Amino acid sequence: MSDEFGQEQAIRKLGPGKLVIASHNPGKVREIGELLARFGIETVSAAELDLPEPDETGTTFIANAELKAMQAADLSGLPALADDSGLCVEALNGDPGIFSARWAGEDKDFGLAMQLVWDAIEAKGPDVGHDAHFVCALALAWPDGHVEVFEGRVDGTISWPPRGTKGFGYDAIFQPNGHTVSFGEMEPEQKHAMSHRADAFAQMVAAVF
Ligand code: IMP
Repeated sequence: MSDEFGQEQAIRKLGPGKLVIASHNPGKVREIGELLARFGIETVSAAELDLPEPDETGTTFIANAELKAMQAADLSGLPALADDSGLCVEALNGDPGIFSARWAGEDKDFGLAMQLVWDAIEAKGPDVGHDAHFVCALALAWPDGHVEVFEGRVDGTISWPPRGTKGFGYDAIFQPNGHTVSFGEMEPEQKHAMSHRADAFAQMVAAVF
C-alpha cells in the first residue's frame, strides 16, 4: 500500500484477539474461522452480533468487500474481515462479475445462472473464446477506518454442459487451466488448494500475520 506521496506504507499486522467475519453465510463463517484459529484469532460472525447487511453498492469486488468490512468494524469496535467473489467471463466483458449471486435470482437458482452464462456466450457467435476467471477480494478493516485489501484469482474456461455436483455456484461450468475436470467434479480439498479464495487468503496471511 502506498500513501498520497507514493511512499510504500507498511501493511498493518493483525494481532491475536477477536475478529468479526462480516458475512451472514454460516458456511463461509465456519470456513474462515477454522482458517484463522491457528493464528490465535477468535472469530465472531456479523449475524451473531446482529449487524445489518449493507447494500453492495460498489462497482468492484474490492469496493464491496471494503464496504462490508468497514461497516462491521465501525459498528462492532473490532477488526472485521469481509470477502466478495464472483465469476468473470472475458467474452461477456467480465459478466456476471460482481452480480454473480444476483444472476441466480431470488431463488438462488444456479442451474439457471449457469444457463444464462452459457446462452450469453453462445449469443456471441461460434468463434468466441470461453476464457473466464473467478475473483475473490478480501478486505480487513479496523475500527479507526484503516483497511487492507487482497485480491485472488484463478483462470480457466467455461464448458457446457455442467459437470459434477461437488461444488456450488458456477463450479460445474468452470474448468481451471491445466485440469481436465470442472471445479464441480473436484474434491473440495483439491479445489481449495488452487481457488481464488485460497489465493486471496494466502496473500492476506503472508501480509498481516
Ligand atoms: P458472494 O461473494 O457471497 O457475494 O458470492 C458471489 C457469488 O459468486 C456466489 O453466489 C457464487 O455464485 C459465485 N462464486 C463465488 N465463488 C465461487 C466458487 O468458488 N465457485 C462457484 N461460484 C462461486
